[in-house]
Amino acid sequence: MFLNLIKNEIISGDCIPILKNQIEAESVHLIFSDPPYNLSGTNLDLRNNKTGGAFYKINEEWDKFNYNDYIKFTQEWLSGCYRVLLSNGSLYVSCTQHNIGEILTESRKIGFKLNNILTWYKTNAMPNITKRTFTHSTEFVCWFVKGKNWVFNYNDVKDFNPNRTKDGNKKQMRDFLDFIEIPIVQGQERIKGENGRAAHPTQKPEKLLELIILASSNINDLVLDPFFGTGTTGKVAANLNRNWIGIEKNNSYIEIAKERLKSKR
Ligand SMILES: C[S@@+](CC[C@H](N)C(=O)[O-])C[C@H]1O[C@@H](n2cnc3c(N)ncnc32)[C@H](O)[C@@H]1O
Repeated sequence: MFLNLIKNEIISGDCIPILKNQIEAESVHLIFSDPPYNLSGTNLDLRNNKTGGAFYKINEEWDKFNYNDYIKFTQEWLSGCYRVLLSNGSLYVSCTQHNIGEILTESRKIGFKLNNILTWYKTNAMPNITKRTFTHSTEFVCWFVKGKNWVFNYNDVKDFNPNRTKDGNKKQMRDFLDFIEIPIVQGQERIKGENGRAAHPTQKPEKLLELIILASSNINDLVLDPFFGTGTTGKVAANLNRNWIGIEKNNSYIEIAKERLKSKR
C-alpha cells in the first residue's frame, strides 16, 4: 500500500527512498521543501576571533555534506519530488545564496520549469558579525512547475496582501511582488525546548507557508513536505483545510511536530 493513502501523518525516515518508492507517483498537488543548505561545518570567517573557538551560524549533523555528496543528494530528492508531483503541481524550494545555484541547475536537468524566485527579507536578520560582507538578510523560495496548467490563486494572493487603498479596498497585484518581509520566527510562534532555547535551528515562519499554500493549492489538496522539521507546513496546511504529509528522519523533531500538530492554530 502506498503511504499517501494515509493522509495527515508524519512518515519517519529518509525522504529519498520514501519519495522514490513509497508515495504514489503523480499524487501530490504541492510540495514545500526546506532541505539542508549544507551550511554546517564551515565556521564564520571572523578576523581577530578571541572567543577561543570557531563560530557557526548553524552546525547540525543533518546539514553536513561534502560537495559531491550534496549534489547527489539534491538530485535525488528533487527527482523524487518530480515523481510524486501531479502534472499541474508545484514545488517550492527554500534556499539561500549558498545552495540556490545547485537547486536551479539540478531542477532544470530533471525537467522542472522555474516560475518565480520569491525573496524573503528577514526583517530581524542576524547582525553582521564578521563586518567583512554586506549583511545577509534574505532567503529565497524557488517556485517550480512540471507542466503548463499550474494552480495560481490570484485572488487569494491579492487578499493576502495586507496593504489597502485609501478607500480600504484590496490593492492590485502590482503592489504585491515576488518579495515578502517576514521576521525570523520569534515570540509565541518559536517552539522552545526544555532549556528555553529554540527547539529547531531553522523553523520557518507560518506566514511564508500561508502565502505558498494559498497561492498554489486548493481546499482538500495534498501538500507534502519532505524535510518536515517542526511541522510548519503541516500546521499551516491543516489550518487552511488542505491535507498534508510530512517526512522527517530525526525522531526528536517528529515528536516536536506531533505535539505542535495536536492543536489547530
Ligand atoms: C531545514 S530543516 C526544515 C525545517 C522546517 N521547515 C520547519 O519549519 O521546522 C530540514 C529538516 O530535514 C531533516 N532531514 C535532513 N535530511 C533528511 C532526509 N534525508 N530525509 C528526511 N528528513 C531529513 C532534518 O532533520 C531537518 O529537521
